[in-house]
Amino acid sequence: MSLDLAPDRIGILPTPQPTPAPAPLSPNALRKIVRELAEQPDQWLHRVRLASDRWYERLALTDDHEVWLISWLPGQSTGFHDHGGSRGAFAVALGEVEELSLGGAEQGLLIRRVPAGSARAFGPEYLHDVRNTAPGPAVTIHAYSPPLSEISRYELRAGGLVRTAQEGPEQW
Ligand SMILES: [Fe+2]
Repeated sequence: MSLDLAPDRIGILPTPQPTPAPAPLSPNALRKIVRELAEQPDQWLHRVRLASDRWYERLALTDDHEVWLISWLPGQSTGFHDHGGSRGAFAVALGEVEELSLGGAEQGLLIRRVPAGSARAFGPEYLHDVRNTAPGPAVTIHAYSPPLSEISRYELRAGGLVRTAQEGPEQW
């Protein structure tokens, strides 16, 4: 056996392989992240803006998750949406929001009040609508893993949720 070290082979580096995506964080791990951050207003309070258009700002982005700060004036809502296969969690830091989701056939539309100090966490298939139905503003902190790559929007119709649009990062 001879080594194949022909001159034209020497010095050629192996083609770099793309590093595999890190495993996504669990909903519970994301819940811990948003809960802890919600309890540290010095980390985000100075960034909050209240705007008649929906306002949000990304606080952190890593290989395996991202964190967003969102404000809610009374009446502001997301509409029903998914998270493009990402897991997620949100904590209410100030005020309170309401979360709508579809339960099973017997449960129908579920409406949960999510007050300051509480958090919700969900898996990759979850759909919900988050809204501020309270008289004052609210601030929430959200984490997604992997970082959001797309979301789809849905309308609640008589037969259930119908997908109506898809958005990528360039739209948010
Ligand atoms: Fe969401």
